[in-house]
Amino acid sequence: MPYFKKYWQRLFWGILALLTVDLLQLYIPRVIKQAVDALQLGQATSASLLGQGGLILSFAIGIAFFRFTWRYLVLGFSRLLERDLRNLLLSRLVRMDRPFFNRRPAGEIMALSGNDLTNVQMACGIGIVSFIDAFMMTAAAVVFMAYIHPGLTFLALAPMPVLAISTGLLSAMLHKRYKLVQEQFSDLTEFARSTLMAIRLIKAYTQEQRQTEHFDRLGKDFVRNNIRLAMVQGILTPFSTLIASTSLLLVLYFGGRLTIAGTISIGDFVAFMTYLGLLTWPMMAMGWVANLFQRGVTSLYRISKVMEEEPLLREPQNPLPLPVVTSLSVRNLSFQYSGRKAMALNDLSLDISPGLLGIVGRTGSGKSTLCQLLARLYPVPDDRLFMAGIDYNQLPLAELREKIAYVPQETILFSDTIRTNIAFGRPDASDAEIAQAARAAGIHEEIAAFKDGYQSLVGEKGLLLSGGQRQRIALARALLLDRPVVIIDDGLSAVDTDTEHQIIKNFDSWLPGRICILVSHRVAPLLAAERIIVMEKGSIAAQGSHLQLLETSPFYRTIYQHQTTAGEAKV
Ligand SMILES: Nc1ncnc2c1ncn2[C@@H]1O[C@H](COP(=O)(O)OP(=O)(O)O)[C@@H](O)[C@H]1O
Ligand SMILES: [Mg+2]
Repeated sequence: MPYFKKYWQRLFWGILALLTVDLLQLYIPRVIKQAVDALQLGQATSASLLGQGGLILSFAIGIAFFRFTWRYLVLGFSRLLERDLRNLLLSRLVRMDRPFFNRRPAGEIMALSGNDLTNVQMACGIGIVSFIDAFMMTAAAVVFMAYIHPGLTFLALAPMPVLAISTGLLSAMLHKRYKLVQEQFSDLTEFARSTLMAIRLIKAYTQEQRQTEHFDRLGKDFVRNNIRLAMVQGILTPFSTLIASTSLLLVLYFGGRLTIAGTISIGDFVAFMTYLGLLTWPMMAMGWVANLFQRGVTSLYRISKVMEEEPLLREPQNPLPLPVVTSLSVRNLSFQYSGRKAMALNDLSLDISPGLLGIVGRTGSGKSTLCQLLARLYPVPDDRLFMAGIDYNQLPLAELREKIAYVPQETILFSDTIRTNIAFGRPDASDAEIAQAARAAGIHEEIAAFKDGYQSLVGEKGLLLSGGQRQRIALARALLLDRPVVIIDDGLSAVDTDTEHQIIKNFDSWLPGRICILVSHRVAPLLAAERIIVMEKGSIAAQGSHLQLLETSPFYRTIYQHQTTAGEAKV
């Protein structure tokens, strides 16, 4: 509705042009009637015939002009509406939180902004136009026909209710089948997307065949359901034509007899037939328009379902001013992902003060979960997380996040220049600042050695970077933000030991006064940490300095021994 209001002028003139077309079309049979009647009475002359032909031609020119106008205005409206809706959808989506994106795969969202938006656009553009057109044509043609002979009109229209009822029934079936097809399309899109994302893995594991076969199965299902859909659609149109032919039969027979009896003139009879011809399209259009509306409504429903979702992570009612970050605290924090039985974090408590905090632990022990909760990516209950003693839930979302530089476990780079990637959080940073961040992350020299330096493109169309290079660019991005809290979730795992050592040393000058949380698979970078926690099954199994943990944590001792012997073996 808001968009109909916004563009009402465009719609108003468009529909006016449409009605003008209808009027002109409806007037043509009147001219034909005059010509035929004049012919029958022997009053027609070359001049009068030429005049009537010329009139029809000028109507045709008028029709062409106004048809262009309404298409331009109304179909243009539907495109504007589509754009506005797409913008709204994106602006909603970027507001959503992690739980939302865990629930809704990217493929499903892509289908919304593709197929579904197109359906809404079709329904609001050509759908509405056809509906108004069909309705007006029917109404006007019926009036003109009734003017010629009411009884004959009644006969000609008698088969219409059958059409209306069958269209209604078929539409309901259409709706159901169409929904299924839409859902399958989003599954298909999601599968294709994840296949392309994992293409290297698929090749390395030689799973091409299996992926292809699975895709083929999805495709077959999709085709089968599309055919089931097409069968319903296929019945609609021929059925309308059948009804139209029945009307024609009735008019030919009864109208012919009326003409023979002289009740109506031959001209009237011809005009009547022409009106009936004009009615054929609206009759068929009804089936098609019902179809368009069904699709549009189904799709709009799917879109609005997503748009109505509110992020679980909300702004506090009365936000407190942000404190100077002197500490982060975790109090009896438990966390469970929706749809999971096991707890990802289990009654975890921890006080974090400025300095380096190391986190080690087996995969799945909850390290990333803890990092993401601290980075304020998931909602938590009250009194669980604190920044300088103030509950996370009482602090404004964006400002709290702006205190934290978070490097997620999976490195995310944009298909853009290295500079843009590093400056992502501070697009206005100077070259010197960017180089400084890159130096701290131990990547400056390598970037400078590229042909295009910081302007080198990465990603699909650019350089292929090693995992370690990608990680260090992501680290530089976080360091550039110059924030009091830095959380690095396994962000050095692909960096070689020497470089890693160098990066940790770089931290020395930069660390004082800041909180740095470093999740690591390797023990080496944590040797300098004030404190290391060992996580196990969502809880802290042990904590202390490197030397203390060697005494108290068997897990820590084991990985340390493994890594040092492995290291020695390599040397
Ligand atoms: N997005 C998610 N949805 C559901 N379960 C998850 C999600 N992320 C992690 N988990 C589960 O939570 C537990 C802790 O995972 P995580 O914090 O990633 O561990 P770690 O980083 O230590 O490997 C694991 O059992 C994991 O399977
Ligand atoms: Mg992890």
